[in-house]
Amino acid sequence: MSMTEPLFDSKTLDLHVDNAIGMGNRRWVFQHPDNPKLCIKVARQAHIRDQLNAKGGLYRHMPTTWRDDNVLEARAYRQKALTTTDPYVWQHLPHMHGWQATNLGPGLVFDYYTDAQGQPAANLETVLQTQGATPALEVAVENLHAYILKTEIWMRHPGPPNIVWAADGHLKLIDCLGTYTMGWQHRFAGLRQKRLKRHCAYLDTAIARALT
Ligand SMILES: Nc1ncnc2c1ncn2[C@@H]1O[C@H](COP(=O)(O)OP(=O)(O)OP(=O)(O)O)[C@@H](O)[C@H]1O
Ligand SMILES: [Mg+2]
Repeated sequence: MSMTEPLFDSKTLDLHVDNAIGMGNRRWVFQHPDNPKLCIKVARQAHIRDQLNAKGGLYRHMPTTWRDDNVLEARAYRQKALTTTDPYVWQHLPHMHGWQATNLGPGLVFDYYTDAQGQPAANLETVLQTQGATPALEVAVENLHAYILKTEIWMRHPGPPNIVWAADGHLKLIDCLGTYTMGWQHRFAGLRQKRLKRHCAYLDTAIARALT
């Protein structure tokens, strides 16, 4: 837990992995027990440790925090593109609300997205597999492209498992800032746009692949 990020509150939450609403390679995701519109992400520290140990060599001595997406994502949220007062920047990106202690380790609190039935919003990979490419989804993808190019948020390639389709009809980048490195390229408008266009092309290719 970094001292430079805000604390959500000073409680220690009791979380149970059986109740997780989502799980990626490195984090569990829980609905926040006190705030149903928020979720809390906690690093799967034992799993990260196993992964590092399995790689062997110096990886066995690497601290798990170096592979903790919460730490990396909290840093990424400090970037200049997210300091604007324009609310549009939050149309496709959850607010990060701060750190909270839990029995499973430090958690990072974000907006939580649901579908129209109040269930966890499906990620784009699942949507593509179950519904295919509907006209509504095509509009949502176009809007996301425009957002990526306009806001110029520095991120990693946005892949379908790291995007959810929320009840407001917008695709949300729920895990695209994690393995963030602010390269020198972001200082140059031309290079920035080139990278952002590559994000859009990557997303289109990933969508096409998921549909085959
Ligand atoms: N803000 C959110 N609202 C709704 N569902 C979410 C949210 N964040 C994550 N999820 C769900 O939880 C899953 C895992 O979350 P996330 O991608 O953040 O975990 P991760 O371990 O960092 O992922 P990775 O495997 O990409 O490293 C997502 O695919 C999504 O289905
Ligand atoms: Mg993910």
